[in-house]
Amino acid sequence: MKVYNQEQLGNLRASGRILRGAFEVLEKAVKAGVSTLELDKIAEQYIIQKGGEPCFKGYQNYGFSICASVNEESIHGMPRKDKVLKDGDIISLDCGVRYPKGKKGMCTDAARTYGVGKISNKARQLIEVCEQCFHVATKDLRAGVRVGTIGEKIEAFIGGRYGIIDTYFGHGIGENVHEDPLIPNFNVANADEKRREKLIERASVILPEGVVICIEPMINCGTKEVKTGKDGWTVNTVDGELAAHYENTLIVWKDRVEIVTLGQYL
Ligand code: MF3
Ligand code: CO
Repeated sequence: MKVYNQEQLGNLRASGRILRGAFEVLEKAVKAGVSTLELDKIAEQYIIQKGGEPCFKGYQNYGFSICASVNEESIHGMPRKDKVLKDGDIISLDCGVRYPKGKKGMCTDAARTYGVGKISNKARQLIEVCEQCFHVATKDLRAGVRVGTIGEKIEAFIGGRYGIIDTYFGHGIGENVHEDPLIPNFNVANADEKRREKLIERASVILPEGVVICIEPMINCGTKEVKTGKDGWTVNTVDGELAAHYENTLIVWKDRVEIVTLGQYL
């Protein structure tokens, strides 16, 4: 696991500030009639104008600055000209910034789920619960804590009310979007037998002081089962139920966490 110097942490905070600004602009742009491709362009322009670069673009040949996942799409929704928001939809937006642009840059990654116009109580509750999962997981999180406690707290909080996706993970971040350690957002003890042993081992890692991680609960109204769509990216719930995603980048310190993409700086 990498830890970063003061200059790099300064760049990480600047990166997080740009990402927060991008979400402010995106939240305002989320309206009936807008396409997810238009949202992608809005985010990209904002990030570049602030001296950053969209760090998803080019990652594993991904062609966009955001992932935009609508209703039963859970994560990695590919922006499309013909995916137009309508009243009552929910949309999960996932975005990453590298700052400054280029090799020395530091990455931040965050996701939010927004409602479009008037949404159902069921949708609103899902969005709230997903965000609460993040806060439940970060309460009392600090250096010396075992990675597995993050997902254990999320799963205990959910208590079977929702499906928690267990085939995608949080992650370390910094010089690259994905770094060690692996961060399960679910309780690895409940993983299917084939994967359980390996996951328990990875969840036993102890977080060192100064490590930078992303925690990103992915919560479904129905079951946890998801599958990738025909475009090779968009991940959908198998039962067609609504899905939400909430993510922040944070630094783990001795006695607290610094949630960079919420503007909580040390
Ligand atoms: N935010 C995603 C994650 O946390 C990254 C999206 S994949 C990309 O892993 F290809 F779009 F970058
Ligand atoms: Co992430």
